[in-house]
Amino acid sequence: MVGVSVDEAMRRAIELGARGLGTTSPNPVVGCVLLDADGVVVGEGFHAYTGGPHAEIVALAQAGERARGGTAVVTLEPCDHTGRTGPCSHALIRAGIARVVIAVPDPNPVASGGAATLRAAGVRVEFGVRADEAEAGNVAWLTSMRRGWPYLIWKYAATLDGRSAAADGSSMWITSEAARMDVHALRGTVDAVIAGVGTVLADDPRLTARNLRDGTLAIRQPLRVVVDSAGRTPADARVRDGAARTWIATVAEVGAGPDGRVDLPALLAELHHRGVRAALLEGGPRLAGAFLAAGLVDRVVGYVAPKLLGAGPTALVDAGVTTIADAIDLEITDVTRVGSDLRITALPRKREA
Ligand SMILES: NC(=O)c1ccc[n+]([C@@H]2O[C@H](COP(=O)([O-])OP(=O)(O)OC[C@H]3O[C@@H](n4cnc5c(N)ncnc54)[C@H](OP(=O)(O)O)[C@@H]3O)[C@@H](O)[C@H]2O)c1
Repeated sequence: MVGVSVDEAMRRAIELGARGLGTTSPNPVVGCVLLDADGVVVGEGFHAYTGGPHAEIVALAQAGERARGGTAVVTLEPCDHTGRTGPCSHALIRAGIARVVIAVPDPNPVASGGAATLRAAGVRVEFGVRADEAEAGNVAWLTSMRRGWPYLIWKYAATLDGRSAAADGSSMWITSEAARMDVHALRGTVDAVIAGVGTVLADDPRLTARNLRDGTLAIRQPLRVVVDSAGRTPADARVRDGAARTWIATVAEVGAGPDGRVDLPALLAELHHRGVRAALLEGGPRLAGAFLAAGLVDRVVGYVAPKLLGAGPTALVDAGVTTIADAIDLEITDVTRVGSDLRITALPRKREA
């Protein structure tokens, strides 16, 4: 069999790791490819779900004795601690792996140290192969572990003239069914969906991840979070329907920010504490404005419909901008047509301090 380069193996490991997106949290997504001494692929694995075997363990089981003297190519530094599974560093040493090539070091103080353990056992360890690509595949987890609060995606839907509802308040549906299905797929990749009480009172959304055609719920549901300073969420609101876990985050529980409403950094810190690594902010415009003004949004996903309203509420309210020089600058990273709409993905540029 023909051998492959370490670079090629890492490309494959990143591809494998991505299969775990949405089911591994609060763990990262990880992919692993094992090469024998001739560079032939003898094992592949990825971390598929929380509590399941790590990528290295899956790949080692596949390779068996063929792993001895070989190279492990892993997207993230192998763990060094005993959690639900034993340390991967020890498993690699026991299997006789001679070299470990890692894309990104593990920022998690509880699990890191795998590289040092491997080196102490005489294994060659290298970092940095396709690091940017591997980082991008794990961006939510890595970002949240490094700074202690979730990676936050603000998603909104608007008309081409930036309206989120008509003048009479009607807003269902601005975008096409295809775009709404895309949103449900997005919900399936995050650990929490956040909405303001204004949206709950106006639209009574379910905020579950489901198949729009037949209404069936995805197996793994994100935590539903209503940001509701005074606890105004009605007792019969759909978010309380039991289809998924719900947290009504009030000032009494989270604390108040300078404006007397729910303290947003404290809310995110509490979500991190509850194991949320990626969260989807679904609005509405006022809550989104507050998160953006505080610099807490990591990615913007806008669904723009080919409609014009000319009046009605805008997709964003009060983001702390009063003059054009203070506009929140974005870098567009993707534009995709979804049904009859456009999905625009953009990253806020870091502001000068
Ligand atoms: N097009 C879209 O993508 C989209 C998405 C969602 C909603 N919408 C539309 O948006 C409209 C509702 O807008 P909205 O602005 O009233 O609702 P919202 O942004 O969902 O909720 C705003 C409310 O959140 C509460 N809140 C708690 N802590 C806050 C904080 N730190 N900062 C800001 N708000 C905080 C406030 O009420 P308390 O102080 O009482 O807690 C505030 O009035 C609806 O018509 C809905 O259809 C559109």
